[in-house]
Amino acid sequence: MTHMPHMDGRICLVTGGTDGIGKAVVEQLAPLGAELVFLARDEQKAQTLCAQLKEQGYKVGYIKGCLDDRASVRALAEQIDACLPKLHVLIHCAAEIHRERLENADGLERTFFVNHLAPYLLTRLLLPKMIQSGTARIVNVGCTLYSRARIHPEDLQSTQYYDGVNVYARTKLCTLLFHRELVRRTRDLGLSVHCALLRPTQTTLGTQCGLVPDLVSALGHPVKQSPQKAAERIVTLAAAPKYGLETGRVLGQGLWTRLNAAAKDDLMAQKLWMESAALCGVEGELL
Ligand SMILES: NC(=O)c1ccc[n+]([C@@H]2O[C@H](COP(=O)([O-])OP(=O)(O)OC[C@H]3O[C@@H](n4cnc5c(N)ncnc54)[C@H](OP(=O)(O)O)[C@@H]3O)[C@@H](O)[C@H]2O)c1
Repeated sequence: MTHMPHMDGRICLVTGGTDGIGKAVVEQLAPLGAELVFLARDEQKAQTLCAQLKEQGYKVGYIKGCLDDRASVRALAEQIDACLPKLHVLIHCAAEIHRERLENADGLERTFFVNHLAPYLLTRLLLPKMIQSGTARIVNVGCTLYSRARIHPEDLQSTQYYDGVNVYARTKLCTLLFHRELVRRTRDLGLSVHCALLRPTQTTLGTQCGLVPDLVSALGHPVKQSPQKAAERIVTLAAAPKYGLETGRVLGQGLWTRLNAAAKDDLMAQKLWMESAALCGVEGELL
């Protein structure tokens, strides 16, 4: 990774920090001197990672919770608000993929909730704290698989047709549209909002539900990128001084630097924003 500045005094929160790319983000951010907190639903994994990083003298902690449904996200936001005096960096790494259609406690399709609505709601709830903290950054995490998806606003819950890989890809298109609209709505609020658009990476995503072969066939080639390589993009957006002076950057990899028309559809981005607000039970307007 290119030389990164020290992040002393910056308080960073990473979701999905216990595995895969998010864990690599935590491991790369900690040596930069940030006060790092990651979200963990698995206490064993969290304690192991914390112990390993603390042994090296890094300032790391975790908050136990999950992003399964609205109540869990709200409870997390309350914990974060109570535990952290400020919040300078929020990185959305957690995600899921499922072979079968599952619903959460709110009756919402699970992949759509965890990958899109949870980061939407968590961002909405933490935004006032981030703005107060000053020079804050949000990093969204996209996947190049988004390009095979289209949004069907009339069936965001995939009740009519469900295919695990397609639904995951669609949630990643939602990530890009959420990112676009968040940039637009926060432009005058002194916040930097960026998105790392990552290529498929060797992690455990899709292994438990056996969807890795489907993901590989959707890609048409084996997955080679390491989580550490993928994490470098995210850490760069979170830490490099130049990204604190601008907003709205989508940092792609290789050929994936240009977004397709579906990811630049402003009307769809606004529609999705309002629909997400309604599904999460928050106001459409920001503050
Ligand atoms: N892998 C790829 O090919 C790839 C490519 C491009 C972009 N991405 C994106 O990169 C990000 C990280 O993916 P990954 O491959 O690193 O995934 P991963 O290895 O499966 O790790 C996912 C992380 O999210 C956490 N998580 C999942 N569901 C959660 C929930 N309901 N509540 C709280 N935490 C939850 C997991 O916690 P546990 O440790 O408890 O399981 C884990 O820490 C995602 O946004 C993904 O879309 C991945």
